[in-house]
Amino acid sequence: MAEQLRAVRGMHDILPPTSAHWAWLERQVYDLLTAYGYRELRTPLLESSALFQRSIGEVTDIVEKEMYSFADRGGDDLSLRPEGTASCVRAAIEHGLLNQPQRLWYQGAMFRRERPQRGRYRQFHQIGVETFGLTGPDIDLELILLTHRLWQQLGLSAVRLEINSLGDSHERVRYRADLLSYLEQHQDALDEDSQRRMVTNPLRVLDSKNPAMQSLIAGAPTLLDYLGEESKAHFAALCAGLDRAEVAYQINPRLVRGLDYYNRTVFEWITASLGAQGTICAGGRYDGLVEQLGGRPTPAVGFAMGLERLLELIPKAQLHHAEQTLHPDLYLIAVGAKAEAEALVLAERLRSQCPTLQLLCHCGGGSFKSQFKKADRSGATAALVLGDQELAAGTIGYKPLRADAQQQPLALASLGETLPALLKSTQKDEI
Ligand code: HAM
Repeated sequence: MAEQLRAVRGMHDILPPTSAHWAWLERQVYDLLTAYGYRELRTPLLESSALFQRSIGEVTDIVEKEMYSFADRGGDDLSLRPEGTASCVRAAIEHGLLNQPQRLWYQGAMFRRERPQRGRYRQFHQIGVETFGLTGPDIDLELILLTHRLWQQLGLSAVRLEINSLGDSHERVRYRADLLSYLEQHQDALDEDSQRRMVTNPLRVLDSKNPAMQSLIAGAPTLLDYLGEESKAHFAALCAGLDRAEVAYQINPRLVRGLDYYNRTVFEWITASLGAQGTICAGGRYDGLVEQLGGRPTPAVGFAMGLERLLELIPKAQLHHAEQTLHPDLYLIAVGAKAEAEALVLAERLRSQCPTLQLLCHCGGGSFKSQFKKADRSGATAALVLGDQELAAGTIGYKPLRADAQQQPLALASLGETLPALLKSTQKDEI
């Protein structure tokens, strides 16, 4: 036998019925974003590596060690996108979208070569939102309120919001200098990773998850103390808006994010129910990025949520409900040469007459018994049963599969009219 091939480590197939959970979740988010006036943008999975180096930052984990990068046959240095913000900014500049405010969203696979574990994959899926051209804290608030509403709609309970302000670049330069001298004073207590980060990007030391580092981090200077008047006012207005909207939050002065492009507002929605990978949604302001990537200075703020993590949190009952959409209304059984020849044509006629009908048509022949077994396994509400005798009499059998009821003949000529009401009453009787 030929050697069996497997999916790449950390990348997963999504099979039915789980695929129905995905479709349901995507639909929920799609409806919500559309209702808030956001429009979808689709960008390629591959971009030039320089885009991510220049946006996410050369000395971030993502760019240093996690990108799937390669030279293509023409020698171009390309990378599978590790996130969507950079592509979205590139596309917005390239297509001249930035001469007016934009509210955009995207979804799809992202790729990071991290060590796979629960909630952390090498191919994972995000839905992200990016807004351009809006400076004030009102849009930061809108994004948080939108996600808050989504958690409510999805039935998530144990999620908490952490926010922080990273100030502007001048404020950060002053802070960075003081943080660096603090870290240098405590250099001996820093773990290996933090020693490295101290040199490359000292703010990232605050992001360390090592328990042994936490007291040292707690004693470090706080970025919030370095904010100027404008940054302070922006942050205060966001906090006041959250208070008014009665959305609970914690200010976490150590929240710095793992990507370099942020300034001012950053936020994360976190759950304790998913172990170490508890951030389900994260984002913030990145007012300098458009200019950094060659566009005119344009304020921007956005976030992305991880769909794998979200799906783990959604109550099972919600997902079970989504699975029901996989069950057809009807399973069409046909036995006998004439009936089999007629079945698919009849199915097409029914589909035209009842466009919302979910009809699964048996293919591959077999006895009544074996076809009934398959009908039962499909989860269909009822079977339509066509034999040569029924065909000759101009009828078709209707047999509820989940309710205690006899098979009854229906006139073929008026099937399109009788079926919808009949199905509805059978679904009510389901046991
Ligand atoms: P991020 O924090 O790198 O931000 O990712 C956002 C979310 O994607 C995370 O909170 C998590 O839910 C999910 N995620 C990230 N990595 C993985 C992984 N390896 N496996 C499973 N899920 C993962 C960004 O990507 C920014 N682009 C967000 C943003 C948009 N900021 C502004 N606009």
